Amino acid sequence: MAKKAKAGGAKPVEELSVKEAKAEHVRLELEIALHDKRYYQQDAPTISDADYDALRRRYEAIETQFPELHSLTSLTRKVGAAPSGKFKKVRHAVPMLSLGNAFSEEDVAEFVERIRRFLRLSEKDELVITAEPKIDGLSCSLRYEAGKLSVAATRGDGAEGEDVTANIRTIKDVPETLKGKDVPDVFEARGEVYMTKADFLALNKRQEKEGKALYVNPRNTAAGSLRQIDPRMTAERPLKFFAYTWGEASELPAPTQFESVAAMKRWGLPTNALMKKCKSVEELLKHYRKIEQERASLPYDIDGVVYKVDRLDWQERLGFVSRSPRWAIAHKFAAEKATTVVKDIDIQVGRTGKLTPVAKLEPVTVGGVVVQNATLHNEDEIARLDVRVGDTVTIQRAGDVIPQVLGVVLEKRPKSAKPYKFPHVCPICGSHAVREEGEVDRRCTGGLICPAQEVQTLIHFVSRNAFDIDGLGEKQIEFFFEKGWVKQPADIFTLEKRNKTLKLEKEEGFGETSVRNLFNAINERRKIALNRVLFALGIRHIGETNAIRLARHYGTMEALRDAALAAGKGDAEALSEMNDINGIGEVVAEAVIEFFKEKKNMKALDALLGEIEAEPMEAVAKDSAVSGKTVVFTGALEQMTRDEAKAMAERLGAKVAGSVSKKTDYVVAGPGAGSKLKEAQKHGVQVLSEDGWFKLIGKK
Ligand code: IVH
Repeated sequence: MAKKAKAGGAKPVEELSVKEAKAEHVRLELEIALHDKRYYQQDAPTISDADYDALRRRYEAIETQFPELHSLTSLTRKVGAAPSGKFKKVRHAVPMLSLGNAFSEEDVAEFVERIRRFLRLSEKDELVITAEPKIDGLSCSLRYEAGKLSVAATRGDGAEGEDVTANIRTIKDVPETLKGKDVPDVFEARGEVYMTKADFLALNKRQEKEGKALYVNPRNTAAGSLRQIDPRMTAERPLKFFAYTWGEASELPAPTQFESVAAMKRWGLPTNALMKKCKSVEELLKHYRKIEQERASLPYDIDGVVYKVDRLDWQERLGFVSRSPRWAIAHKFAAEKATTVVKDIDIQVGRTGKLTPVAKLEPVTVGGVVVQNATLHNEDEIARLDVRVGDTVTIQRAGDVIPQVLGVVLEKRPKSAKPYKFPHVCPICGSHAVREEGEVDRRCTGGLICPAQEVQTLIHFVSRNAFDIDGLGEKQIEFFFEKGWVKQPADIFTLEKRNKTLKLEKEEGFGETSVRNLFNAINERRKIALNRVLFALGIRHIGETNAIRLARHYGTMEALRDAALAAGKGDAEALSEMNDINGIGEVVAEAVIEFFKEKKNMKALDALLGEIEAEPMEAVAKDSAVSGKTVVFTGALEQMTRDEAKAMAERLGAKVAGSVSKKTDYVVAGPGAGSKLKEAQKHGVQVLSEDGWFKLIGKK
């Protein structure tokens, strides 16, 4: 189980009260969203994969234990992060999802067991599962129409990716035309774009010779190469591709995973030769070990083994749970470790005033990457590890993230090393740094007088998932802030008007053109989705997901503000309405109310709204017959299991409830339905048979 500092709470999930679970769910959601952004968009992750996985696991465990916290916008439904905006956007016809993880042999056995249960297989029924390497690259979807490559897109946030067709065409591995009589009219081949280890090393040698910065690892380099604006740059960096699954397909070449991959190979797509069909957990693990042994000698980086149910009709029945298929899982390899010396412990101050300790390390190579920093998370983690300046520590890195400190090698501790005293004042503004009861983090109380927080708030405001203004990043914001030109968000939008006197183009690094481009980029953002504005404001607990929830519920900033102000003045109805929004709850609602109560915030918001227009948000899956409806399934369903039914309804935008009330729109009843059927009749709720349900959603 995850450590306290990693997963944010020592209490086992089963022991959490509803209130605690809600609060932790919100906190984890925020934290995960932040790490997603750092990893997927900024290429600058700050925690290890293992830590990230621990956060995810706890988040998922909370949702399993408290299903009421699981909503349509739950992070468990999200993959990666939204596209960065450099390229044209491509909406995926079939979402590009992620994989759940297995870390131990028990996890693998459980995965297989779960599948058998879900499909109601008897011991005699054979269950074939494929096992293949998990390539450490970035996933891409290649759309072929009439056998010709038409569009290639990155995964992005799973729903929408970036159009990288021109760049993909430079990859020699990727055929322009698929060959064969059975190539479907439409076929989206999906797989991993990667760089071989040899090509990566050669590229770095060249960089070194030319005195340029070195790349960190093949995965990052492949990602960077594919996202080059100029395809000629991509062509200079040799990328490769493995196809391992598909998206939209007008028809499928075979009834199994294994044969379908074989068909892709016949059509000319590169596939991985290490894929094997296995008939038991033992066989899966045997193949896992074989691949692990070969890992170092493979020409490309891998970080685990992926298992997939072979029969496609079973994959279809198993469907998806949130962001990953039930029919597949990634069995990860253990992380890589090394020892080094802690030179210093630095304290960084974030946007919310949070003090984060970072160990400054004697540079050391772990898994081919030079590591100089490791996060120490918080005060408790330092105390738990008793890390001291001068200590030799074991560090671990998995993937391309800032590593974590696993522990201290006590035998090597210098006599002079003193226990680390966590500062009680902010290193930036000198204000008190306090730790509230029940919180793991110490925070600076300087609020807006703390430059770190002010600047961080502005940096957050222009970040990718917020206002995302081209040419206005951390460096520029810091510069404008120091100059006193931008103190609050609205100032960004008045820069152009003020530029007659500011004369930005005269400053070093800003030519006429770049200033023009900057103002154009700012003006482009004068009309922007409400949820982005809400997220950008940096309200505590309002990450992207909660911003979407609020935007969807209230529709406009005015409606949200009125509701928050009313709730703040004691209007019980307004308060309970906000609390009741799926996934919001008391802690988040309180943060929103507090934000709107604060005069300073209102002034800043008004100034901002004088410059921009926040567009209302559209609801999900609007076109489905059941979107927004509340459905209750009861009785013995015969054509689908209860889990399948629930997943299907939620996919279509419906909310699935456990009990019938007057808010219920449909009760889907199978044989043997009892009290819920009676309740439905009492409230006049429409009752459907399973067939009726399928008809309603257009599947029969
Ligand atoms: S199958 C529905 N197979 O791992 C998801 N994914 O952690 C189908 N990946 O998003 C994915 N090698 O980018 C699959 N052999 C493989 C893979 C693989 C690497 C990546 C892929 C996926 C991520 C999930």
